[in-house]
Amino acid sequence: MKAISDPVIEAAPASSLAARLHALETRDTLRIAICGSVDDGKSTLLGRLLAEAGMIPDDRLQQMIRDSKKHGTQGGAPDYALLLDGLDAEREQGITIDVAWRYFGTDRRAFIVADCPGHAQYTRNMASGASNAELGIVLVDARAGVQTQTRRHVAILAMFGVTRVLFAVNKLDLIDYDRTRYAAIEHECRELARTLGIARADAIPVSALNADNLVANSPRTPWYTGAPLLSYLETVSVERRSDEAFALPVQWVNRPDHTFRGYAGTVAGGRVTRDDEVVVLPSGQRARVARVIGGDRDLDVATAGESVTLTLAEQIDVSRGDVIAEIAHPPQVAAQFACHLLWLDDAPMLPHRRYLMKIATRTLGARVTEIKHRIDPDTQAHLAATRLAANEIGYCNLSLDADIAYRPYQQDRTLGGFILIDRESSATVGCGTLDFGLRRDSNVHWQHLDIDRAARARIKGQTPRCLWFTGLSGAGKSTIANLVERRLHADGFHTILLDGDNIRHGLNRDLGFTDSDRVENIRRVAEVAKLMMDAGLIVLVSFISPFRAERQMARDLFGEGEFLEVFVDAPLEVCEQRDVKGLYAKARAGELANFTGIGSPYEPPEKPEIHLHSDRESAADSARAVIEALMGDGGH
Ligand code: ADX
Repeated sequence: MKAISDPVIEAAPASSLAARLHALETRDTLRIAICGSVDDGKSTLLGRLLAEAGMIPDDRLQQMIRDSKKHGTQGGAPDYALLLDGLDAEREQGITIDVAWRYFGTDRRAFIVADCPGHAQYTRNMASGASNAELGIVLVDARAGVQTQTRRHVAILAMFGVTRVLFAVNKLDLIDYDRTRYAAIEHECRELARTLGIARADAIPVSALNADNLVANSPRTPWYTGAPLLSYLETVSVERRSDEAFALPVQWVNRPDHTFRGYAGTVAGGRVTRDDEVVVLPSGQRARVARVIGGDRDLDVATAGESVTLTLAEQIDVSRGDVIAEIAHPPQVAAQFACHLLWLDDAPMLPHRRYLMKIATRTLGARVTEIKHRIDPDTQAHLAATRLAANEIGYCNLSLDADIAYRPYQQDRTLGGFILIDRESSATVGCGTLDFGLRRDSNVHWQHLDIDRAARARIKGQTPRCLWFTGLSGAGKSTIANLVERRLHADGFHTILLDGDNIRHGLNRDLGFTDSDRVENIRRVAEVAKLMMDAGLIVLVSFISPFRAERQMARDLFGEGEFLEVFVDAPLEVCEQRDVKGLYAKARAGELANFTGIGSPYEPPEKPEIHLHSDRESAADSARAVIEALMGDGGH
């Protein structure tokens, strides 16, 4: 994550420079995530706090006053939110989730503040901020009290391991500093924190506009006896893990020549010294640390947060993404998990769709196998769900392509936090926390069989292939596939044709035409196609298979050159005109929901091995083209 830095602005000088420098050197740092909806006054609060605490240089204050007259939101009066401007445009999209970071400090403490804009599409920034924070500050508008957005913010803080939250109940001036009203909101806030499992919650009544309870207690709230915001931040105690076990996720393997082999990464926790016994996970191999190198010199010890290169005394296999860890307290290893998942993308998360997962330095294929429930942001109720839309949180089972080293997120943010990435666009589409590993797969082992695909194919005298026909209903997939199979059969090849309509009468009888059902429909038929190929057959699959992601998933089950995507391309109008089964007419009449091309999308292949235009050429010609491609492919 990129930090967008604002110059560090320090408080007024202490008694002597030396004492002050010493204080600065030894002060600790508090990581804060601050969140609020657009109109809660978050920027004004932060700006005013910094100004009141004397942390803004005069020239910047003057600039703010000038700018307020030109384009402030306070009718020409000082607009303290402007003090934080200039940072907001800098957010990045992409693999990393980004957030604006602000740095400031007093003699007692330094603060790193993740400024999380409130509106829904910025949930990703909230998640990013929260996953790095020790304290959450949640802005609440005193006129509105706890809103859905507030609940959502606190839920995300809780999910990402923030154990202490401060509710800044702002705009107290607008409720006339009404003690009773404030008490009711405070109660609501504490209840919210409690239901979400946040251990410690506090509240402060403030008015950013009038600087009430920011750096000094306000005479307008004599009933409030707690600390003002700044002293609260300087003194609040937060949970910090101190006795962590050593772990180093390997970022890259440094092998300049055959004499040196080092494993570089950032120490995620604990400490490491020369001669430590370590274990490499997930493989479980053990070794002894030979050298700990930081920059270009050898170190005696390296601790959490340091970037180092380790060399090992034994020659063992270590790759990027592995975790080198302390033997006494190693991370666990699993490939299936119960997790919380926050969805970020406009396209919904569908179970069984394949994504890439990035956890620590490891990236691998992953899919959600089941949504146990979705969490209602307002009531925290558990709702049934077959998909997750943007900003929804689900409790899910997750299945990875391989074992990984991990720790539950609530113990270890680095080894327990992950993001999901879209395989085509590389955009971050979700982020989540691992709760625990599911042991189910550790009892099921792969059974070695002596007769393999090659042996089965040899006896049939052919090279197995998968021909995957995709296209709109009525494009001619089944007709062409049928002709191809007849021809192959006549020539003595062993084949099988898996047709959507037919498979939906048996194996997939339980599935309908929602997006998630189609994903599962294709997953099953792809697995069956693979089994059939293992049997040594030439497999023809004729399914609409409307989504690129699932066709890619099917392709990934096969080896290079074994999978031929056949795009049976005909314009929607042509298919609709043919309407062999009368389904287009029904769909247009509104009697058939989710019909491909009308109520449900078809994503055409981008690079099919074979592209047929069934509106321009006869089925026989198309079939011939497929046979030629198959034969020309060298297999027969
Ligand atoms: S897929 O989209 O999940 O791949 P599949 O190929 O199995 O679809 O099934 C498509 C067949 O189901 C169509 O040829 C059509 O006869 C029938 N069908 C019934 N309802 C629909 C629908 N809503 N969308 C598409 N096809 C449908």
